[in-house]
Amino acid sequence: MKNHIAQFTELNEQAEQGGGKERIQKQHDAGKMTARERIAFLLDDHSFTEIDKFVTHNCADFGMQDKKVLGDGVVTGFGSIDGRKVFVFAQDFTAFGGSLGEAYARKICKIMDLAAKNGCPVIGLNDSGGARIQEGVVSLAGYAEIFQRNVMSSGVVPQFSVILGPCAGGAVYSPAMTDFIVMAQKTAHMFITGPEVIKTVTHEDVTKEELGGADSHASKSGVAHFAAADEKQALNVIKELFSFSPSNNCEKPPVVSTADPIDRADASLDDLVPDNPNKPYDIKDLIHKVVDDGYFLEVHEKYAQNIVVGFARFGGQSVGIVANQPSFLAGCLDIDASIKGARFVRYCDSFNIPIVTLVDVPGFLPGVNQEERGIILHGAKLLYAFCEATVPKVTLITRKAYGGAYDVMSSKHIRGDINMAYPTAEIAVMGPDGAVNIIFRKELAEAKDPVKRKDELVAEYREKFANPYKAASLGYIDEVILPRQTRQKIITSLRLLENKVDQNPKKKHGNIPL
Ligand code: HXC
Repeated sequence: MKNHIAQFTELNEQAEQGGGKERIQKQHDAGKMTARERIAFLLDDHSFTEIDKFVTHNCADFGMQDKKVLGDGVVTGFGSIDGRKVFVFAQDFTAFGGSLGEAYARKICKIMDLAAKNGCPVIGLNDSGGARIQEGVVSLAGYAEIFQRNVMSSGVVPQFSVILGPCAGGAVYSPAMTDFIVMAQKTAHMFITGPEVIKTVTHEDVTKEELGGADSHASKSGVAHFAAADEKQALNVIKELFSFSPSNNCEKPPVVSTADPIDRADASLDDLVPDNPNKPYDIKDLIHKVVDDGYFLEVHEKYAQNIVVGFARFGGQSVGIVANQPSFLAGCLDIDASIKGARFVRYCDSFNIPIVTLVDVPGFLPGVNQEERGIILHGAKLLYAFCEATVPKVTLITRKAYGGAYDVMSSKHIRGDINMAYPTAEIAVMGPDGAVNIIFRKELAEAKDPVKRKDELVAEYREKFANPYKAASLGYIDEVILPRQTRQKIITSLRLLENKVDQNPKKKHGNIPL
């Protein structure tokens, strides 16, 4: 037995060295943790069980038969975060640059299958040179096996990706098909092809950072949901995201108790929406004032800032918040905002997270650029996502709800469950100025004093339509509430809807306007 134990210990130590001390040092010098250090930081202490620790590749080309690393460049297994089970794979850049071959892909597929069958999330820590060149098409096949599982698991278990090093070529498509991508600033890069190839093909000069750094993807492309300052912060974001989500689509998100009173009124909210309808205010102020302990985990903070999305809790219950942002592009819906909102709504709906929608929207953003790029198609994504969602939907109109954007933003007509409005709400086909210009064009042209007449007509229109009472009289708004009551009213609504059951017709899948 002694010999067996010695062999066991030696093999374990060897596996835990990955690509060896030198490469580990190089990894540390680059400001990066090793795969195992990352897993240890992410998971509860001593909760990690590694599987397939002794797997090696079977490649015999390019001298690979003499280069074997136990574990083959990826650490896989399961453990817990806050006591909740998760499956993890961490690409080990110290072994073959974390590149993916056949055995490596098989390891990832194994834990993805186990996660799906057991209703647990999959967290992928990416740091890899991509397809293992020596294994050729076999490594491409390995990626495809993972892609297929990403899609089969989508909407069944949450999938989280953390990018902590290079991520290039087709390898980017596995993270892209997961629910959230968190990138570490400076050390993480994602692109389908790097700056050198771009220079050759399109003659464009671009740095790695501009092309595929965390900040670029978190603010310009929207590929990354979070740009974290460093690796630890990136891993902490995953822990937080998971705390708001259930482990699978059959469960509800965990309830987190709070000392924040459910009936807490906040008189300062009565002054948040300015009297002047053209004056902006920050919707995040409202969010912070009404959610449990003022805590809001914003998703896509730097991308399409005219819509705000993220997670919070009301009375301990996890919700997804979707809110127009009057202080950015006046809160108009444009292409990026529609895509951002739609994707978030669909995540919440997939995983039984109720949606609270805060509306202050003057409409879709007009313009040639938006039309040419397909605002019709992309705006329809958000509409589709809200229409499709069967989770509890609570909507509050704080000010403007104009035109098609009124319908889109979780209105009563697309199965909003509880629709509320502040007395400052203006629910109409368009704003008073535009409306008067159109319907009274002739009269204004003939008026003795067109400015005075216009003011009168605008005032008349405002009194008739720029308020919530017409919509309330039709039952489109269930309740007009005072801003100070917001928290209490939202919590009452969510509790009412706690056991809501709603279904869409049986179908293979819908055809969301992609
Ligand atoms: C095999 C690889 C590798 C790869 C890196 N290595 N990438 N081995 N296949 N794809 C090895 C290196 O040979 C080296 O081994 C070690 O990993 C570290 O690499 P370095 O180049 O020394 O590190 P660094 O300077 O930090 O550069 C990292 C890198 C670079 C930017 C990732 O290695 C690189 O450009 N690699 C190729 C990336 C790429 O084009 N991959 C294919 C993408 S296409 P030694 O033994 O010297 O330490 C793709 C298709 C997926 O992935 C398709 C899915 C459908």
